Amino acid sequence: MLSGLRKSYGPIEAVRGVDLAIAPGETVALLGPNGAGKSTTIDLMLGLARPDAGSVSLFGLAPADAVASGLVGGMLQTGSLVEHLSVRELVAVVASLYPDPLPVDEVLDTTGAAAYADQQTTKLSGGQTQRVRFALALVANPDLLVLDEPTAALDVEARRDFWATMRGVASGGKTIVFATHYLEEADAYADRVVLLVRGQVVADGPATEIKARVGGRTIRATLPSIDLAEVCTLPGVVTADRRGDAIVLSCSNSDAALRALLEDFPAARDIEVRGAGLEEAFLEFVTDGRGVPAP
Ligand SMILES: Nc1ncnc2c1ncn2[C@@H]1O[C@H](COP(=O)(O)OP(=O)(O)OP(=O)(O)O)[C@@H](O)[C@H]1O
Ligand SMILES: [Mg+2]
Repeated sequence: MLSGLRKSYGPIEAVRGVDLAIAPGETVALLGPNGAGKSTTIDLMLGLARPDAGSVSLFGLAPADAVASGLVGGMLQTGSLVEHLSVRELVAVVASLYPDPLPVDEVLDTTGAAAYADQQTTKLSGGQTQRVRFALALVANPDLLVLDEPTAALDVEARRDFWATMRGVASGGKTIVFATHYLEEADAYADRVVLLVRGQVVADGPATEIKARVGGRTIRATLPSIDLAEVCTLPGVVTADRRGDAIVLSCSNSDAALRALLEDFPAARDIEVRGAGLEEAFLEFVTDGRGVPAP
């Protein structure tokens, strides 16, 4: 439960009034571009930073207490592992800090860290380090897992393995909050997506809904001297703009729009279809009045 959270770093308002109530068992993606305030929100949730205003309550406790009691496990975006220990030793030490940890070997197996359990923590690749971080979050057997870009350093296969493990964890009834840049990742693995832009929540809802709102495509075509209002009524088209001789169509269904465009306007040429980048889609959100105003 996050209410009215605010956090500034000097003149930068990293988090500007975030309210979130998360139900037990939910998997929530915090989605947003670089600098949106995802990590800051997570730091506040884990009690690693103090809010300037507002509060965080996890299972009725202050974040630091919830983390200390093993109810909450966190995985951060940065930070190195403790040195001079093997992976297994590190996981075992962390497990010993909590009242009800999972068996160390089980955690090493589920996270795939078993393969290098006897290696020193300093001798790991980025992806291996990431898995160990995940193991450290999991070993306390927390009810809530908070993960900051958990798949950032992973290759495609490792990503798939990671999410397969997460599905298992989620189906065991745990609550999961993870930060990501990837709309696809949020869509595929979260029940709910919270879209953060410039420190504020601009959308919050089922992943499919958010995807439909920000995941549209754009069609650009050279098509002089036609009435924009006419192309606007084509199926699958949301808005139409003119850029010189070209028109730009924002689409909810670019396939339908393209078929209709070619049929009704055979003069259209130099046609390009592009997936709207997330950043672009966010900015659209911010500037078209649906979202928050620019600071
Ligand atoms: N310790 C800090 N000191 C000063 N500014 C900070 C600090 N941490 C974050 N910021 C600033 O706060 C804003 C939000 O940063 P944050 O790390 O929360 O974003 P993010 O959504 O996690 O981004 P990314 O996707 O790049 O990880 C940014 O403008 C960042 O520069
Ligand atoms: Mg971050």
